[in-house]
Amino acid sequence: MKKKLTRFDLQKMKDDGQRAVWMTAYDYVTAQLAEEAGMDMLLVGDSLGMAVYGYSGTVPVTMDQCIYHTEAVRRAAPNTFIIGDMPFGSYQAGMSSACENAIRFHKEAGVDCIKLEGGTRVADVIKAISDGGMLVMGHVGLTPQSSGAQGGFRAQGRTVDSAKAIIEDAKAVYESGAFALLVEGVPPEVTRLICDALPIPVYGIGAGDCHGQVMICSDILGLFQAFTPKFVKRYGNVAEEYRKVFAAYIDDVRKGEFPGEEHVYRMIDGEADKL
Ligand code: KIV
Repeated sequence: MKKKLTRFDLQKMKDDGQRAVWMTAYDYVTAQLAEEAGMDMLLVGDSLGMAVYGYSGTVPVTMDQCIYHTEAVRRAAPNTFIIGDMPFGSYQAGMSSACENAIRFHKEAGVDCIKLEGGTRVADVIKAISDGGMLVMGHVGLTPQSSGAQGGFRAQGRTVDSAKAIIEDAKAVYESGAFALLVEGVPPEVTRLICDALPIPVYGIGAGDCHGQVMICSDILGLFQAFTPKFVKRYGNVAEEYRKVFAAYIDDVRKGEFPGEEHVYRMIDGEADKL
């Protein structure tokens, strides 16, 4: 049986030069298959706002939505390190509500850590949650919850000043007690400087090679149709499979070819004659 990784395993993988692989999961079946495939971690990302609920961004996602989906993922993948994603509004309104929401993730959904977006501006929150005995993963660079302030879903750190600010953010996250960091949408040179500056694992999405990669599952499956960011590699075309299956089912039923003899229950021998 697969052994669930701990923060120390993740740190050792980083120290040994072994890349960690993880992705998002929002539902039971996907999480079960991901654990079976040997995924190192699963993130129940607030990207579920777009991938599952059809919102145009992550801002509307609520704490309750995150908890429901994380509970299902935890049930499906008991031996996988699971990251709960603090949605917008769950950690901006004050230290005590941030800690309460981090605690909810642990008590109600059984996560192994929580992740939250931001650097220097959330340093106090990271410290408070870490001081409460919970593991925190930071998230700097492109931070979708503040895409309005960042001018949309755009790569960050492409000028020297902006790159320096992200490196400062990364340091603040580490100094506040985070055990790992996610860097999103920045040039690989910036990610490399962050990796060199911090002793903790640095994972990336759209940030080049580092100590591991995360991808949105519906992107790698080729399922999410609205848009595909430059940094995504599609490993399948599951949307096309869905289309084929749905069309074949509709066709079969309309032609009377489904259900067939093999899909029906027959009455016990002779009982049908008595009807
Ligand atoms: O919510 C999410 O899926 C994320 C990704 C950027 C990894 O945070």
